[in-house]
Amino acid sequence: MSDSAELSLPDQDIKLPVIVGTENEHGLDITKLRSETGYITLDSGYGNTGSCKSEVCFINGEKGILRYRGYPIEQLAEKSSFVETAYLLIWGELPNEQQLADWSSLLTEHSNLHEGLRFAFNSIPPQGHPMATLSSMINAVSSYHPELLNVSSDEDFRQAAAKLISKVRTIAAFSYRQTVGYPVRYPKPTHDYCSNFLHMMFSKPYSGFEADPDLVSALNKILILHAEHEQNCSTSTVRMVGSSGANLFASCAAGVCALWGPLHGGANVAVLEMLGRLHAGDMNVKDFMERVKNKEERLMGFGHRVYKNFDPRATILKEAADIILPKLGVNDPLLKIAKELEEIALADDYFVSRKLYPNVDFYSGILLRAMGIPVDMFTVIFAIGRMPGWIAHWYEVFRDPSARINRPRQIYTGSTERDYTPIEARS
Ligand code: SDX
Repeated sequence: MSDSAELSLPDQDIKLPVIVGTENEHGLDITKLRSETGYITLDSGYGNTGSCKSEVCFINGEKGILRYRGYPIEQLAEKSSFVETAYLLIWGELPNEQQLADWSSLLTEHSNLHEGLRFAFNSIPPQGHPMATLSSMINAVSSYHPELLNVSSDEDFRQAAAKLISKVRTIAAFSYRQTVGYPVRYPKPTHDYCSNFLHMMFSKPYSGFEADPDLVSALNKILILHAEHEQNCSTSTVRMVGSSGANLFASCAAGVCALWGPLHGGANVAVLEMLGRLHAGDMNVKDFMERVKNKEERLMGFGHRVYKNFDPRATILKEAADIILPKLGVNDPLLKIAKELEEIALADDYFVSRKLYPNVDFYSGILLRAMGIPVDMFTVIFAIGRMPGWIAHWYEVFRDPSARINRPRQIYTGSTERDYTPIEARS
C-alpha cells in the first residue's frame, strides 16, 4: 500500500501523505494542501474530516464496534463501574486496586460544593432548564477554585478532573432539588458515586433513603455507556474550546451546551416526547412512520453519523430495560411502542437503505424514566456520563506539544468588494 496519494488539480498535482491508524483507518494528511496549492477542502458537517489523532476511543460504525482505550463497550458495561471507566478513559489504563481506591477517595473528597455555590442555586428560577444551570454552575465552580484555572502539572490536572467529575453530580442533584422545592441533601462519604447521586436526588428531608441496588447498577451502566464517543459534537466542542488554551471547566461547560441540542444529547428527551405523543393517541405508529418517510417527522433516537449498523449501546440499553423495568415493577407502555417502531423501521427499506438504526438515545429515556429521573434531567445524566470523555480529550489537547488552536477555513460566498453607500443614497 503506497504511503501517499496523488491529487490531480486543474493546474497542478500534489502528493498527499496517507496516514493509517492502529485500527487500519486510512486518511489523507492535507496539512500542506493550502500552502502548496492554495486549495482548501470543504466538508460541511465534517462527515469525512478527521480533526485530530486520538487514543481514547475507537468506533467502527459499519460493524457496530465501540471500544474505550481498546476495551469493548460490552465488557465494560457488564464488568466495570463508572468510576473505574472514568479512570480508564482519562489515564488510558484500568486502575489497579490502590489506584482505584485513591481515585474513588479523591472523588469522595471533592463531592461537596462550596457553600457560596450552594446558595447560588437560590438565585436560579425553579423552572430554569437544568442544562442551563449545569453549564453555568460548572464555570461557577472554577470561580470558587481559581487554582483549577491554571493546570500546570499532572497533579493539578488530576485534582481538577476529580473536582469536575464529582461536583457535576452534586450540581445536577442540587439543581433538581431546587426545582422540586426540597432542601439539598449533602453527599455522604460512605456512598459510592452512583448511590450518592441517587441519595442527593431522592432522599426526602424527613426520611432516610437507601438506593435500590438495581437502580445503582442501572445508573452505573447508563453512565458507562455515555462516557465517551470520540469526536461527537460536544467532545469536538470541548477540544475546540480547549485548543485556545481555555481551562478545563470552561471547555466542559461549552460541551454541556453542545450536548443540549435535540440532534445530540437532547435526543433522549425528544424520544420520550415522540413516544408520549404516540401513546396519547395523537396518531398510530404506522401513520407516524409514513410521516417520517415523508420527512414531516423525524424518528428521534434513530440514525447516526457514524453507526451505519446497530449502535451497540442501544442494544445493551434495550436488554437492560427488559431486565430492570420488571425488577422495578415498572410496566411502561412506551417501551412496547419503542419496540414496535424499531420492528417496523428494521423491515422498511426507507430506514434500511439509509442505514438508520436505533442509537444510544432510543432506549435510554425509557430506562431513566423507570428509575424516577425527571425527563428534563435526561440530558444532564448524559452530561454526567460524558464528563470523563470530555476530560480525556481536553487532556489530549493540553498535553499535545503539536496542538494548534482550531481554526477551520471557509469558502466565502458573500458579496464581492463594494464601496460604502451614504444613508441618503440608500433605497
Ligand atoms: C447522539 O456523534 C455521536 O457520536 C453522537 C452520540 C454520542 O454518543 O455522542 O452518539 C449521541 O447524538 C446520538 C444521535 C441522537 N440524535 C437523534 O436521535 C436525532 C435523530 N437522528 C438524526 O437527526 C440523525 O440521524 C443524526 C443527527 C443523528 C445524524 O444526522 P446525519 O449524519 O447528518 O444524517 P442526515 O441528516 O444526513 O440523514 C441522512 C438521511 C436523510 O435522508 P435523505 O436526505 O438521504 O433522504 O437519513 C435521514 C435523513 O432525512 N435520517 C432520518 C433520521 N436520521 C437521518 N430520517 C428519519 N429519522 C431520523 N432519525
